[in-house]
Amino acid sequence: MQVNLHESWRIGEVEIPSRLVLAPMAGVSVQAFRRQGRRFGAGLVCSEMVSCAGLQHGNERTLGYLRIAADERPLAVQIFGSDPPVMAKAAAMVEDAGADIVDINFGCPVKKVTKTGAGATLLDDPDRACRVVEAVASAVSVPVTVKLRRGLENGSRACLTVGPRLVQAGAASLTLHPRSAKQMYTGTADHALTAELVSLVDVPVVASGDVSSRARAQTVLATTEAAAVMVGRAAQGNPWALREILDGEEVEPSREEVVAELILFMRETVRELGEHRATGFLRKFYGWYLGRGRFPRAFKAALTQLPTIADVEARLLAATPGARFVLARLEETLPQGDDVLLDLPISIYGGG
Ligand SMILES: Cc1cc2nc3c(=O)[nH]c(=O)nc-3n(C[C@H](O)[C@H](O)[C@H](O)COP(=O)(O)O)c2cc1C
Repeated sequence: MQVNLHESWRIGEVEIPSRLVLAPMAGVSVQAFRRQGRRFGAGLVCSEMVSCAGLQHGNERTLGYLRIAADERPLAVQIFGSDPPVMAKAAAMVEDAGADIVDINFGCPVKKVTKTGAGATLLDDPDRACRVVEAVASAVSVPVTVKLRRGLENGSRACLTVGPRLVQAGAASLTLHPRSAKQMYTGTADHALTAELVSLVDVPVVASGDVSSRARAQTVLATTEAAAVMVGRAAQGNPWALREILDGEEVEPSREEVVAELILFMRETVRELGEHRATGFLRKFYGWYLGRGRFPRAFKAALTQLPTIADVEARLLAATPGARFVLARLEETLPQGDDVLLDLPISIYGGG
């Protein structure tokens, strides 16, 4: 039997209109990515991880992550850190900025983060992890959720003991990416663990890892009884994957559509990050959008060599003149500037 991904569900009082969640990804999940994800059917989107220390110090780059537009909601903002009071303060700032959910990162495997005692390291220190969740949950009135990995070492089952404790500490939902921190992104996500976690907690669980098609989403939902699936890498430069997962519509977009979505993404990203930071940030997206056999390799390579984003846009439009009309139609349907809740004049981007 097919699972209906258009069913709504709830995290606390927050209604999520579909069972598809767009993953938080450092260096990817900018506002343009999240808004696009919502347009293509994601029921919930999430910012990339934001440093609680950066928020506490009013770091300009970090504050930029709290820029929230009305049409990306419901939106979770993810914070990372290991000090309960600092995390609590950061969570209060996130709530004030208009986030519907505060998500806590207990999954990041990257050394820069784990060496500070944050991210996946907290799976090895459940008492501290619980204190972080308690402190955050008592600092905000919006739901608090946690995203975690299976554990630190390969084969670890730590998520099954830590997860229920985090729920007791106040987590309203858990997202499990069932790889170990050591695995990074190698091997496969073991969703048998997700099924076990679902049976152990009475809050919604979101299944993250290797969901890249409707068939896979259906299998993961049916076998784990998770409330939703989260999609990350499959949506990079490919929002059409979200539509396919939701509706089974396996329609390869036309070149005009691809270029129109890419140019819209570029324009929004320049607005968000400023021309200078956007130039480097966008390079990886050219390959992601134009790959998958959509454009010749040489064309993609040439774009990354162009000095300015305006040059890239001109080259894209010269190769696909019809994209101009698709883009104009797309821009007409988008809400304009007054829908932005918090439009900080931030022009710098900080990776995670
Ligand atoms: C480039 C990249 C950056 C990521 N950054 C974050 C992050 O900031 N916070 C987080 O919780 N997970 C992060 N993740 C993990 C994803 O959210 C997701 O759990 C993982 O990629 C598995 O899902 P997928 O197979 O659908 O990509 C990141 C993954 C990638 C590939």
